[in-house]
Amino acid sequence: MARSPLDLVPTMGRDLDRLELRLEASVQTQDPFLTEVAGHLIRAGGKRVRPGFVIAAAAIGQDPPTPATDDVLTGGVAVELVHLGSLYHDDVMDEAQVRRNVASVNAKWGNLRAILAGDFLLARASELAASLGTEVAGLLAATIGKLCEGQVRELQDTGNPARSETSYTDSIEGKTASLLATSCRIGGLVGGLDRVTVDALTEFGRYYGLAFQVVDDILDIVATDEHLGKPSGNDLHEGIYTLPVIRALDSPCGPQLTELLGGAASDANVRSALQLVRASGGVEEALDVARHYVHQASASLNSLAPTTATAALQVATDHLIERARVPLGDR
Ligand code: IPE
Ligand code: IPE
Ligand code: MG
Ligand code: MG
Repeated sequence: MARSPLDLVPTMGRDLDRLELRLEASVQTQDPFLTEVAGHLIRAGGKRVRPGFVIAAAAIGQDPPTPATDDVLTGGVAVELVHLGSLYHDDVMDEAQVRRNVASVNAKWGNLRAILAGDFLLARASELAASLGTEVAGLLAATIGKLCEGQVRELQDTGNPARSETSYTDSIEGKTASLLATSCRIGGLVGGLDRVTVDALTEFGRYYGLAFQVVDDILDIVATDEHLGKPSGNDLHEGIYTLPVIRALDSPCGPQLTELLGGAASDANVRSALQLVRASGGVEEALDVARHYVHQASASLNSLAPTTATAALQVATDHLIERARVPLGDR
């Protein structure tokens, strides 16, 4: 099965296969337990969007693309490890029990080990980035900081029905868009591309990331657990009010929704709130916002050479909105 549209490009599919071996190797330690915990979500799979972007960005100037260099793969491993470390920590924060269709690290080994293993993944990522030079190392370190800022912004508004849309946008800019932008930027830098191209790729990754998170947040409202590989409705359960909810709160059903959210986050209340959000038009409005970001992402690609890699990034972008078209969960 194709992990991402990049798999459809033969050399890039092979690059992703090579990346898998490097990823597995990157978490080996003297301690078998730490190796097992750190490798848990790597073995569980995932779409590998971020390393895919490193590989595609580096290949933007080549037609047909040639196999990724070792340095490009190192960049890909580094960004996936940062992503993984952030997921280990995110699942502790969100009390998530399932990730990538398997038990989350915190569910399997507890919060303390999940935090330590997440730190370990971030450390290994930093070590790899350092081997790519000071610019890449500094960029990845700054991005880890932005991830934290985005998560803190979300935390500050947890359980707050008056959460502003600015709070939401700032949060997803930090927690999601920054790493996708950085993945594209690292690909461009390691691939030796000119600054104008590197900046256009970075903008592409940022807009893609904004759209990606809005779609992820829509899916939490509309999708089934099976579709997501993690339980849906978890955001509302945790008091995280995302764009569809913020828009619903601003609609005629806002007062009723505020009342439900103000009560205990019981399963019954979350179910009723989900139904209200779905009926409010908030999902459609959020989808429009995602479409706007997708449009901006495509516009960034328009300034790049029309090569195979550019086309692959465009296919990935078109695929984003399709992802949100899923059957409604049975709630
Ligand atoms: C999940 O990212 C976290 C978000 C930013 C929404 P992905 O949807 O890329 O997760 P994997 O890597 O495929 O598991
Ligand atoms: C994504 O946040 C985690 C990071 C980007 C650090 P979410 O909490 O929204 O993502 P999921 O839904 O758990 O994948
Ligand atoms: Mg989460
Ligand atoms: Mg979260």
